[in-house]
Amino acid sequence: MNTGLLWALVFFTTFQFVGSSNRKLFLPDHSYHNRKPPSGRIYETETSSLESCAITCYEDDRCASFFHGPQHKCIGYPKVPFPPSDNLTVEMGWDVFRHAEKNDVPAEKNDVPAEKGWSLVGEKYYFVSHSKLNWTRAKDMCASMGGYLLEIESESEANATDELVMQRSERADYWIGAMYSSNSNQWTWVNSGNEMVYTRWVPGQPSDDGFADCVDIAWAWDRTTAWDNTPCSDSKMFLCEY
Ligand SMILES: *[C@@H]1O[C@H](CO)[C@@H](O)[C@H](O)[C@H]1NC(C)=O
Ligand SMILES: *[C@@H]1O[C@H](CO)[C@@H](O)[C@H](O)[C@H]1NC(C)=O
Ligand SMILES: *[C@@H]1O[C@H](CO)[C@@H](O)[C@H](O)[C@H]1NC(C)=O
Repeated sequence: MNTGLLWALVFFTTFQFVGSSNRKLFLPDHSYHNRKPPSGRIYETETSSLESCAITCYEDDRCASFFHGPQHKCIGYPKVPFPPSDNLTVEMGWDVFRHAEKNDVPAEKNDVPAEKGWSLVGEKYYFVSHSKLNWTRAKDMCASMGGYLLEIESESEANATDELVMQRSERADYWIGAMYSSNSNQWTWVNSGNEMVYTRWVPGQPSDDGFADCVDIAWAWDRTTAWDNTPCSDSKMFLCEY
């Protein structure tokens, strides 16, 4: 099972985490894995993936933890204590994630192996979404999985991204972690804070229309990708890395 796809952030954003109580960061709660979901649920639904199960909880203000299990059943719970896990019936195939608490021990970066939704390319792990979110939500979603929106700082990273994206059978645009900073009047990688050095804009981009402040990569027909600036409120697939 996809035990660790979602887990807390943490190794590099502890400060943001402590500072912003509204963020939902999910940690796997291993003691509840393979336990039958208890009563007290706020919703039960079927989702297409663990990722969309997490998004369902993420988008529901009442939801603090969720069970994800066989046939992608997805069950959300409010922030109330569960019965001790030992009191629950064993039922295989369930993974449990809960909203991280301030005193949680940060998960280790290498706790998330490739088979849990991330692909290892070179020295970095990459995640290609199956869902569309606006840029801000996509950024938060990457963070809730322990990463950040993809930053492409070299031609070889851009080539590696092409390969990842081209594995998808359908053409789509993907958010990456760049934004126009009106403070510095520069296109900036938001996680590292670095200015863009390497770029791969679609010819004629970035357009200067004042509201298209976020960057996505578009899949061109020659099986390469190029960058485009579009409004941050658009819904697009997204790419995370860590
Ligand atoms: C859990 O099981 C123990 C022992 O069977 C029982 O004493 C306790 O009340 C149970 N706790 C809950 C929350 O059901
Ligand atoms: C990136 O891909 C292009 C086109 O396939 C190739 O010409 C170029 O050498 C590659 N660059 C790197 C650094 O791998
Ligand atoms: C993204 O969506 C969320 C929730 O719908 C909203 O609060 C946020 O303002 C949106 N962000 C942008 C840039 O549109």
